[in-house]
Amino acid sequence: MKTNFSIEIGKLKLNNPVMVASGTFGYAEEFQDFMDLKKLGAIVTKTITLKPRKGNPSPRTCETAAGMLNSIGLENPGLDIFIKDKLPFLKKLGIPIIISVASEEEPGEFLELVSRLNKLEEVAAIELNISCPNVQGKEGLISQDPEATYKIVQEVRKITDKTLITKLSPNVTSIADIARSAKDAGSDAVSLINTLTGMSIDIEQRKPKIAAGIAGLSGPAIRPIAVRMVWEVFNKVKIPIIGMGGIMDVQSALEFIIAGASAVSIGTANFINPKISVEIIGGLKEYLTRNKIADIKELIGSLKI
Ligand SMILES: Cc1cc2nc3c(=O)[nH]c(=O)nc-3n(C[C@H](O)[C@H](O)[C@H](O)COP(=O)(O)O)c2cc1C
Repeated sequence: MKTNFSIEIGKLKLNNPVMVASGTFGYAEEFQDFMDLKKLGAIVTKTITLKPRKGNPSPRTCETAAGMLNSIGLENPGLDIFIKDKLPFLKKLGIPIIISVASEEEPGEFLELVSRLNKLEEVAAIELNISCPNVQGKEGLISQDPEATYKIVQEVRKITDKTLITKLSPNVTSIADIARSAKDAGSDAVSLINTLTGMSIDIEQRKPKIAAGIAGLSGPAIRPIAVRMVWEVFNKVKIPIIGMGGIMDVQSALEFIIAGASAVSIGTANFINPKISVEIIGGLKEYLTRNKIADIKELIGSLKI
């Protein structure tokens, strides 16, 4: 049986619904020896800021039960070096490249980042990271406030026709309210979830295991929360969802698609098995064939309750 595996998100056309999550795949070059990168549905880059960032002090990661904490703090080379040194490699791959961007001091930085990326044809889409728990200002995250989310997405929407994705935080009361703001302001899709805030303590030293204290929890520990949030947004807001949070294998990727995700992103699992995303692509194809599903779109949000 011939199965259709392609999906669309805004103007983006993906050959398959599997991408890699921001910050867990670098700028892809590091992974080229492990897999044929062209097989991925899309690549989302590590978040870029206008200026280079050193990130937070070490230790910045630690293992937890069924997951990990990180407080990398958006270490990145900044926009100029990214465009000069990292983008040419990504361009050669010929698959959609989604550039994740964040502001450091004030939201206006998003406008400069997006207006410059907008001119580059190799940039397929832009993901607004308004949900990094490791760089939050005094007023919290943009994605914790529906009005602030609306405002920034609307301003960015005015200056780009490229596919716009807004990455949401799970550290909120109602993720659907934030997703609705993003949609109403013109976002083509939402990515969810970013990490949940957490803490781990070294009891002998009575110090946090992460230098910054609070960090972002990822991995299988957060999967049920992420699946529930995808399901809530799918039911309450009509906007394509890129689902992520603890996807470790084909079964967990399928949970997200059945809950309502049009595409899935692989994060922490890349650190355990760098080839996992292409293995999941193979597993999804096998599932569709075995269940005689002609088109992956039939599976999206097909949860029976
Ligand atoms: C080490 C690490 C670095 C991350 N860096 C970023 C980042 O730069 N930008 C971003 O939007 N998300 C970042 N994330 C969040 C992931 O993209 C993803 O949303 C989250 O980890 C949940 O997925 P997972 O459980 O599959 O890892 C990072 C996650 C980890 C573990």
